[in-house]
Amino acid sequence: APAGLADRYGRRATDMRLSLTDKCNLRCTYCMPAEGLEWLAKQAVMTGEEIVRIVGIGVNLLGVRELRLTGGEPLVRADLVDIIGALRQAHPELPISMTTNGVGLDRKAAALKAAGLTRINVSLDSLHEETFTKLTRRPFLDRVLAGVDAAWAAGLGPVKLNAVLMRGINDTESPSLLAWALERGYELRFIEQMPLDADHGWTRRNMITAAEIRELLSEEFVLSPDPRARDGAPAERFEVRRRTGSGSSGDSGGSAESAGADSHGPVLGTVGIIASVTEPFCSDCRRTRITAEGKIMSCLFSREEFDLLGLLRQGAGDEELAERWQDAMWLKPKAHGMDHVGLDAPDFVQPDRSMSAIGG
Ligand code: GTP
Ligand code: 5AD
Ligand code: SF4
Repeated sequence: APAGLADRYGRRATDMRLSLTDKCNLRCTYCMPAEGLEWLAKQAVMTGEEIVRIVGIGVNLLGVRELRLTGGEPLVRADLVDIIGALRQAHPELPISMTTNGVGLDRKAAALKAAGLTRINVSLDSLHEETFTKLTRRPFLDRVLAGVDAAWAAGLGPVKLNAVLMRGINDTESPSLLAWALERGYELRFIEQMPLDADHGWTRRNMITAAEIRELLSEEFVLSPDPRARDGAPAERFEVRRRTGSGSSGDSGGSAESAGADSHGPVLGTVGIIASVTEPFCSDCRRTRITAEGKIMSCLFSREEFDLLGLLRQGAGDEELAERWQDAMWLKPKAHGMDHVGLDAPDFVQPDRSMSAIGG
């Protein structure tokens, strides 16, 4: 039996993240510059057929068990529904999820579901129009909210929401954003900003850390560890109860205390915290990534990319492509940055490519 996508550190990638395009219709400050980026030429991007072939190699030969479609913004691809339909036909049982900014999702949600998409995550950083527009540089809050509701209505749940917190912009909004998500049954995840912005404006000081996030939330909520297994997921999940005031007051540590279940009322839902910088989860990473131009990236922060699509277009067979994919994953770094150097270490060198160009 094939060994799958193993690396030197004993991890095995079973979770494939494939970017459908580098283009995006928002300009989030933590990702893209205001003027956008130079988009890939159309011929450089994987066609639907090439995507289906590459996913097939991953699933049939290399032990991939889950697929996530990313971008850029996957919804800007005109053939998105067809691609999902073809993937679903080839892999009836494969979980296929998608991460989107939600713009245009209201019109596409039902078709995505019908084509075979399993579930969806939507980026939502703020519920205030002004803040949303400042962060994304586009006035599309209402469209995103309509998209989230449409995804839920179409049966693409559980819907997860992603919020990157930016100091002085949307950080203090985090408790009200959580209250809003809990009311609607969406699973909100707060994300530490990673140094993957095209403007290279990331600084350690300005980053809202997971510890700060827990402290911000503790003003209104009590968090206790979610008993479900984390299973290599980036998000650490907590059960959320409303702080009732009378019970335990005066904890200022900001850490997730174990809740006195009785003194704080019922569990309202869950919240996730994705602490890529301060509490990295690299040792349990199960990801392999394919960029929109068909390059293998073993890690978000890996410096080497392998041109799988180039080899495919030269006529290579599935077995050879699978072997090269294994070779590329074998070299997956131990952790982000260079081995032993964290994202916030002084000598960390930010990758040239932004999140949108790598694939979220
Ligand atoms: P599910 O929990 O299964 O829905 O998936 P997910 O949380 O992995 O998916 P999503 O695409 O929503 O990713 C959430 C956030 O995790 C992203 O916005 C990134 O900030 C972060 N992230 C995604 N992939 C990686 C990765 O490979 N490494 C690190 N460090 N962070 C990642
Ligand atoms: N740091 C953390 N997350 C980021 N995303 C984009 N850029 C960054 C960054 N610099 C997230 C978005 C979206 C996903 C595709 O990636 O919020 O949820
Ligand atoms: Fe995996 Fe790299 Fe992300 Fe760490 S930084 S979790 S190794 S993809």
